[in-house]
Amino acid sequence: MCGIVGYIGNKNACEVILNGLNKLEYRGYDSSGIALNIDGKIEVYKYKGRIKNLEDRILSLDLNSGCGIGHTRWATHGAPSDRNAHPHTNMDGTIALVHNGIIENFVALKEWLINEHGVEFRSETDTEVIAHLIDHFYNGDLLDAVYKAVGKMKGAYALGVVHCDEPGKIIAVRKDSPLIVGIGKDENFIASDIPALLKYTKDVYLINNDEFVMLTKDEIKIFNENRQEIKREVFHVTWDADAAEKEGFDHFMLKEIYEQPKGIDITLNRRINEKGAINLDGITITKEDLDKINRIYIVACGTAYHAGLIGKYAIEKFAKIPVEVEVASEFRYREPFIDDTTLFIAISQSGETSDTLAALREAKNKGARILTIVNVVGSSVARESDDVFYTWAGPEIAVASTKAFTTQLISVYLIALYMAEVRGTIEKEYYDLVLRELKALPDKVEKILKNAEPVKEIAEIQHEKQHAFFIGRGVDVTVALEASLKLKEISYINSFAIPAGELKHGPIALIEDGTFLTAIATQDHLYDKMLSNIQEVKARGAYVIGVAKESNKLIEHQADKVIYIPDCIDEVTPILSIVPLQLLAYYIAVMRGCDVDKPKNLAKSVTVE
Ligand code: F6R
Repeated sequence: MCGIVGYIGNKNACEVILNGLNKLEYRGYDSSGIALNIDGKIEVYKYKGRIKNLEDRILSLDLNSGCGIGHTRWATHGAPSDRNAHPHTNMDGTIALVHNGIIENFVALKEWLINEHGVEFRSETDTEVIAHLIDHFYNGDLLDAVYKAVGKMKGAYALGVVHCDEPGKIIAVRKDSPLIVGIGKDENFIASDIPALLKYTKDVYLINNDEFVMLTKDEIKIFNENRQEIKREVFHVTWDADAAEKEGFDHFMLKEIYEQPKGIDITLNRRINEKGAINLDGITITKEDLDKINRIYIVACGTAYHAGLIGKYAIEKFAKIPVEVEVASEFRYREPFIDDTTLFIAISQSGETSDTLAALREAKNKGARILTIVNVVGSSVARESDDVFYTWAGPEIAVASTKAFTTQLISVYLIALYMAEVRGTIEKEYYDLVLRELKALPDKVEKILKNAEPVKEIAEIQHEKQHAFFIGRGVDVTVALEASLKLKEISYINSFAIPAGELKHGPIALIEDGTFLTAIATQDHLYDKMLSNIQEVKARGAYVIGVAKESNKLIEHQADKVIYIPDCIDEVTPILSIVPLQLLAYYIAVMRGCDVDKPKNLAKSVTVE
């Protein structure tokens, strides 16, 4: 959501910023803009629509500047339009700024600026308030004015600010919205995320909440909220620019689906030593700590929440500790029972999801120990946790999460097994069996990916449907939820998932001739029950896609088409069965002509509530 890029140095700022904004496209946006400091004047260009729109209008202008800020906007306050796009300026256009976040008290500030200071607003955004506030406090020192303006603001913000009278300077500040600073030679950068900077530098400073940054081309100074300068260690990014490129695939989503064997392998095998013991690098929970824990909450959003549901299954089954799983936006506003006997597990790909972060802080304030499963190294969620388990999926660019999900699943299994071993709640033989089965997964996922043709054929037959159902039992319910989310978010098919046993309690009323229904039947002990459910929906005309283990062939007599996954123990099937269903969603979306990597209305990193 909203991307910020800022540049100061000897290169053409316009080119560097446009390049960075293009790399932040995946975050989701509906307009883009740029402000450049040119010969002591701020020039602003901003347009609704794709970045290409902005490029088409400004690249021919040959704008020559070594200092500027740029933005991709995901509308919150005010519709997507040229006027509401960032950067925003003060009345005489001497100050320009870009903002990621939401200013909660903007209505009161706006009224104050209009009534007391005669300010005329030109947009419907909350952000414009900040430009006028900084102007109000400006007295020849931009950093000072930003400090004073921020003192009046409530909400979440990452800001990049320039002033025409201070052409060699960018001021940035962060609270609850992501911000990093890129370190160059004779040049420096700000950005919302690492891919924006990879072409130019791999050395960054991670900026914390309530920190202010002053950048010139030769130096970077970081200050705390009391205006004291602070030192920060350089964070060196280990992945390169290629990791954020499509590398011959038509879409990032397809590339990321095909990267799953590698992601699973790295997430898993680097945590298992030669003796077969699990070593959870960033986690320091001991037996004594675990003995104290009475309750575990797993909290996350969307796909990560689905990984949490499998986490509950694995922890309860192996480690015998009760687990509650909840979506973060609900958890943060109720009064869950939390104290120092609670373990709070947050799961997040980006590590910047606003609701997950708020829920984490709530739990931390009440004394819970915080463990996170997160993909982005150095992200806010990672930094605010006691223990961090990185998923090592590599950068995930497509909005629809795929490889982050399967590596999150591996993570919850490893954590559950580790807890079980430490607590002595698992037999050695069973522990070894599960671990062996997990280790076999990369090859099995590879096998599914090499045999994508049948999935493509199903997509051919079903892609024009307007509705879809997914059913399952046991862990397959979670796979149904995740497969349904994947399909709806990228193909816009109205899709929903239910436990197969619930069909008769209402949803079966919707089944009619040709209804597109996927029945996930991978659990041996529930297989017969699933076959009965398939018969029930077939009898009412549904077109059924079955998903089953390859040695369970009986399903062929019931379903219209069957997608097989390699045989494995029931406990680990979700990591296999979700893969063909990700592919199914992908092919259907492509056949429907959808923008697979950037579905409408969605953002990769949901940094506002
Ligand atoms: C769906 C998807 C979202 C995210 C959710 C949480 O494909 O990607 O549902 O899973 O927005 O995001 P993170 O994991 O970054 O906290």
